[in-house]
Amino acid sequence: MTITTVRGVRDILPEESPTWQLLEESARQIFAAYGYREIRTPLFEKTELFARAVGATSDIVEKEMYTFNDRGGDSLSLRPEGTASVVRSFIENNLQRALPWAVYYMGPMFRYERPQKGRFRQFHQMGCELFGAEGPLADAEMMAMIVRLLRRLQIDDALTLEINSLGCASCRGPYRERLFAFLQERQAQLCGNCIQRLQRNPLRILDCKGEGCRGVARQAPAMQESLCPPCADHFCGLQELLNGMELPYMVNPLLVRGLDYYTRTAFEVTTTALGAQNAVAAGGRYDGLVAEMGGQAVPAIGFAMGMERLALLLEGKGLRNGSRSGCYLLAVGAEAGRQALFLAEQWRSAGVAVQMDWLGGSLKAQLRRADRALAAQVLILGEQELAEQSVLFKDLRDGGQRLIHWGQVVESLRALS
Ligand code: HAM
Repeated sequence: MTITTVRGVRDILPEESPTWQLLEESARQIFAAYGYREIRTPLFEKTELFARAVGATSDIVEKEMYTFNDRGGDSLSLRPEGTASVVRSFIENNLQRALPWAVYYMGPMFRYERPQKGRFRQFHQMGCELFGAEGPLADAEMMAMIVRLLRRLQIDDALTLEINSLGCASCRGPYRERLFAFLQERQAQLCGNCIQRLQRNPLRILDCKGEGCRGVARQAPAMQESLCPPCADHFCGLQELLNGMELPYMVNPLLVRGLDYYTRTAFEVTTTALGAQNAVAAGGRYDGLVAEMGGQAVPAIGFAMGMERLALLLEGKGLRNGSRSGCYLLAVGAEAGRQALFLAEQWRSAGVAVQMDWLGGSLKAQLRRADRALAAQVLILGEQELAEQSVLFKDLRDGGQRLIHWGQVVESLRALS
């Protein structure tokens, strides 16, 4: 019996790596250009961190965390998301003196969800968190940054930016009560899961995908009508800024998000290209979280994007296979193989990249491998070339070939890069 990966968990194979590298490099460039610096937090934390930050009644904490006791008896969890750890780090490292504080992260997250296309149990997020900025300028700039990244990746065509306001501590409570009263009268139309959620988290019923629940949600009182004046101003301000930047968006009153820490702005970037798992990026404000977690009151906003979903979109665009690149050195015969090793080392020391064919064998077999590996050039060292201290230089992009002396290889490769 062979051992396979755990359900919902997958390898990213070398063929896929160029896509992932493109995602990471593009994100790093754009996040840095907006002033974000990288933070790397641990993959596991005390369970209590997520229970408090993400919300003890959220689906993530109730049903989806990988939680275990370590040998010392402490309850730990694999991180289901990045925001809680960033907030913990911000408070623990006393960074409240260093405001504004803007960080990005990328890496694996873990949720015990039902696996399907675009939904995994180990998945990867790239996210940003900005601490200290209170007004809607920060919200609008963050959305512009996300759209810029998606445009850079050329996957912005089937995407929609959806926004909503979830209010703050002072206006959410009364809204929750109104909503609860409305939903309670229509309990018969709700699914079993939502009936259970009614007491604990009625807002979540608004984004249930069940047919009956959706019908009820469409008629439910909207949060926007219950916003207090400062929250309403914030939401209006955000829309004005998005209009001013000509960034297309849609107000979705049913957008509530599955994490409890959000206040005011919540947003998602959705796509029609991925089926049910349609959110490629999501986030919002969490102005109360730092204080709730034991820090000072600091406004904050952030988002995360699902890298598997972005990779699927890129793959759909055929961008997955990079074009030809790199140079392969092929040697035929034992003596040529030995010499090739020495030459490749010399050329690498001079700063050019050369890959050896590791398996040897016939020239035909080696050429086939170089072609499959999408090499741009091959250098062939056979018996005759060995005697002449030359290599046959073949460009696989245009088919051109010529003999060059060993001493000219570095210069010729440099001229091509
Ligand atoms: P989230 O909506 O739970 O938010 O996740 C953000 C994104 O991660 C989703 O839109 C999706 O693209 C991706 N994602 C989530 N779960 C999975 C999964 N099981 N498989 C594949 N992709 C997935 C958060 O995590 C918040 N921490 C975002 C945030 C940051 N809010 C403020 N700051």
